[in-house]
Amino acid sequence: MFRRHRRLRKNSYIRDMVRETAITSDDFIYPLFVVEGENIKKEISSLPDCYHYSLDRLPEIIDEIREAGVKGVILFGIPDYKDEVGSSAFDDNGIIQKAIRKIREIDKDIFIITDVCMCEYTSHGHCGIIHDEYVDNDETIKYIAKIALSHAKAGADMVAPSDMMDGRIEAIRNALDENGYKNVSIMAYSAKYCSSFYGPFREAADSAPKFGDRKSYQMDPANSREAMLEIEDDINEGADIIMVKPALSYLDIINKARTKYDVPVAAYSVSGEYAMIKAGAKLGYINEKAIVLESLLSIKRAGADIIITYYAIEASKWLKKR
Ligand code: PBG
Repeated sequence: MFRRHRRLRKNSYIRDMVRETAITSDDFIYPLFVVEGENIKKEISSLPDCYHYSLDRLPEIIDEIREAGVKGVILFGIPDYKDEVGSSAFDDNGIIQKAIRKIREIDKDIFIITDVCMCEYTSHGHCGIIHDEYVDNDETIKYIAKIALSHAKAGADMVAPSDMMDGRIEAIRNALDENGYKNVSIMAYSAKYCSSFYGPFREAADSAPKFGDRKSYQMDPANSREAMLEIEDDINEGADIIMVKPALSYLDIINKARTKYDVPVAAYSVSGEYAMIKAGAKLGYINEKAIVLESLLSIKRAGADIIITYYAIEASKWLKKR
């Protein structure tokens, strides 16, 4: 006697009833790029349908996000001024700090997350302070904490350090707590791999390293057990949410993290994942909507509670129409 699996696939009614995983706009976070200047809404060439916004043009995208039902944004800033120590990253009048205040003015509820890193702000494009062509860990985490604190002061709900220095979560948590920001949460880019899938982002954020690569701080794509150590340390240091990044090539890591730890797991479906689908769709090789929804579903099925995706708005609209 064999089992008739197809009974439960007979029509959409029964398929809807037995479906194990669902994605909704509640799951998504939209990455938003903010630039200095006025009246700028400029398409990012490496990320089609995504734009650089100046502060005065933020209302339209915030409205779009709200209408789509997306609850959160993660902000990336492109500053006018860069130096060795990324000064504009912790300037109270830096691009991110201004953007946070502006978004809060437009919408008092939207959940504002900030990417805490230095690579967009340093002249050398590395995610920290350089000594002898090496990113100095302990010096860098002082700056990372300072950046996170300045985001909290500006009104961020959550900070998300993406630098991959050791001890940064503890440094940030201490800085926030000591300054009265106990309720600002931390989403740690815990298992952030040194990935070629970040290519289009680095063009969008002008953040490619001017020399060398990020292999001495971001994780080796070959390693899985090491990711669990990174995650465990971040949880112990005070991370509220941990992240695996990229998503699609790292579903095994998402799943392992989900199985092993009980904190919410976020997955970042990165720029290269987005750009490949956009390109394939443009060439007519794939059905964009179907591929995107299947990819997002697979990330959720693997164990992600939260998905950061450049498709957040489009996917939310598609999900509503179904
Ligand atoms: C900053 C940062 C990067 C991404 C998010 N935060 C780039 C990098 O590490 O080089 C990549 C996001 C994407 O590719 O979509 N450190």
